[in-house]
Amino acid sequence: MSEFLPGLEGVAATQSAISYIDGDKGLLSYRGYSIETLAKHSTFEETTLLLLQGELPTTTELAEFTTQLRGQYRIKYHIREMMRHFPSTGHPMDMLQTAVSSLGMFYPGNECLTSSDSCQDLNYVRNMTVNIIASMAPLVAMWEHMRRGYDPINPREDLSVAENLLYMFSGKEPDPLMAKIMDVCLILHAEHTLNASTFSALVSGSTLATPYSVISGAIGTLSGPLHGGANSRVVDMLKEIGSADKAEKWIDNALANKQVIWGMGHREYKVKDPRATILHQLVAELIEDRGSSLDTTFETAMRVEEICADRLGHKGVYPNVDFYSGILYAEMGIPADQFTALFAVARSAGWLAHWREQISDNRIYRPTQIYIGSGERDYIPAEERSRN
Ligand code: COA
Repeated sequence: MSEFLPGLEGVAATQSAISYIDGDKGLLSYRGYSIETLAKHSTFEETTLLLLQGELPTTTELAEFTTQLRGQYRIKYHIREMMRHFPSTGHPMDMLQTAVSSLGMFYPGNECLTSSDSCQDLNYVRNMTVNIIASMAPLVAMWEHMRRGYDPINPREDLSVAENLLYMFSGKEPDPLMAKIMDVCLILHAEHTLNASTFSALVSGSTLATPYSVISGAIGTLSGPLHGGANSRVVDMLKEIGSADKAEKWIDNALANKQVIWGMGHREYKVKDPRATILHQLVAELIEDRGSSLDTTFETAMRVEEICADRLGHKGVYPNVDFYSGILYAEMGIPADQFTALFAVARSAGWLAHWREQISDNRIYRPTQIYIGSGERDYIPAEERSRN
């Protein structure tokens, strides 16, 4: 009989060459390149190609990919019309899931998936990937205007994914430091081994569903509060604390009342999440550049980190990626309910890399279960049934 492990904890459900985590040492790498190296030297576009094809692209490959991506920032008129009918109260993740699944009707293409049990056609994979990654950020930024009753801002093909995202949100020329920070945030969130949303992408990919179904399913999985989304709670928490000098008392009180400190702790990392370390450095860079014009939440966050290191460090609880990303997004003028949608924009790269890995050597997922229901029973006609 199979052993039942709730949540498949510790069960190897696939083999993958895409990313690696060492939670005790605080290491994360994509295709063998440390996250620190990629954050320092790469771009989201280059990292996406690395995740997808396994090697850093040449200048020509990167230029081709970038041109293809930028050429598809524009969202078809019919999709925009469809979005106009979404309720303005609709959550950005619900909007994104619906819009991405609709792409399958506007940009059909499943020839590779119906011809055999696996798909090796790199052109097909590339076209689908470009189409989805190019559309994600514009959809998220368009919704910000449309839900408030305005026309969306048209994308600009002279801008990178990160720059265009900020431009389409604000309508203003993107600030270079903020665009760099957004680009790093996209790199840091692009991939993280076999988490729940990536697993859902593998399962739907294994049925040879279209990549639009695969990615919309993964967006739905990410939308749950146990997966994406702690960063907006961090911002609320820091606002509630109010200022750095009130942090110690607030944290001690929260811990005494058994509350979680948002943005602290991670199932995989028992030291500081390496992505939090990178974001912390970006926060310091921003403070250096902007000085006192920054919101006080930055100072409060640094103080909360110091206090938590003292109170929770012995339990292996340190800042995770969500601790600093929320305050950075808030400083860019992005509303808190869009933070998880930004996560999805970045993670689409990792999901698509796993989708490609799955369909290139496919076997449909069909785990087993341990039946705990009743034995065989006689059928009783409705009029003879009673509950007592
Ligand atoms: N605040 C306060 N205490 C925390 C904590 C936090 N954020 N995270 C963990 N702890 C404490 C636990 O209460 C537990 O204490 P105990 O041993 O005295 O009972 C100990 O640290 C071990 O935690 P545990 O719950 O076993 O860790 P986990 O790996 O199961 O949980 C999280 C990981 C992410 C669910 C958890 O750290 C958490 O809820 N963090 C806040 C939410 C968050 O930021 N999520 C985003 C993750 S990227």
